Amino acid sequence: MKIILLGAPGAGKGTQAQFLCDHYGIPQISTGDMLRAAVAAGTELGKQAKSIMDSGGLVSDDLIIALVKDRIEAPDCAGGCLFDGFPRTIPQAQAMVDTGISVDHVIEIAVEDEAIVKRLSGRRVHPESGRIYHIEHNPPHREGIDDETGEPLIQRDDDQEETIRHRLSVYHEQTRPLVDFYQNLDGPRYHRINGIGSVESITGQIRKSLESQ
Ligand code: AP5
Ligand code: ZN
Repeated sequence: MKIILLGAPGAGKGTQAQFLCDHYGIPQISTGDMLRAAVAAGTELGKQAKSIMDSGGLVSDDLIIALVKDRIEAPDCAGGCLFDGFPRTIPQAQAMVDTGISVDHVIEIAVEDEAIVKRLSGRRVHPESGRIYHIEHNPPHREGIDDETGEPLIQRDDDQEETIRHRLSVYHEQTRPLVDFYQNLDGPRYHRINGIGSVESITGQIRKSLESQ
């Protein structure tokens, strides 16, 4: 089973990925998480990506395509995987088609821009595990502390209001065209989910849509 999660920054891709990966027993391939790990490890890729990510722009297609091609060859991807934040441009999507990576489902989580700024300004994450919280909508049991490890939560460097607005404009210009691309592509089933509502209700809608014929 291969699934693509499509949606604006802050639409809830990472949040819903947790349910989908458990449900189907497949690994999450988040290019954002992979890049943040490279930055934290100080690798060559991390050095190239850091300033682009902090500004809210996109890392080059060539780097990302190479990163993903390498990742999906790992044994844990044999039964499929969930792509979160990839593809993000038409050349990235076309590279998947050209390489013969066929996808079963594309799930678009649709959220209006106004809701996004609030969501991302209140987001807190546990950097090691990628666990995601929100100070109001999904708070940890103890303020600023990860529920499972007791370690501190952080705010992502790109979750500043000005950067969020830039990420949104990049989304509309470069990623939004993937909605038409996938609606017109033979193969995957396309699901459009309204991403406003509780995390649980959105999970329920995704599940229902995947289970319907
Ligand atoms: P990436 O990490 O992919 O960031 P993004 O796409 O901007 O998406 P986010 O992670 O911000 O949002 P999300 O949809 O996962 O939302 P979440 O579930 O966390 O990419 C970061 C950067 O890396 C990019 O800007 C780019 O530079 C680079 N990059 C990555 N991939 C690339 C690629 N393929 N090509 C080129 N460059 C690439 O939820 C957000 C908040 O909302 C949380 O606080 C959460 O608790 C809360 N929330 C979730 N659901 C709900 C709900 N239903 N109601 C209320 N609050 C909710
Ligand atoms: Zn995410």
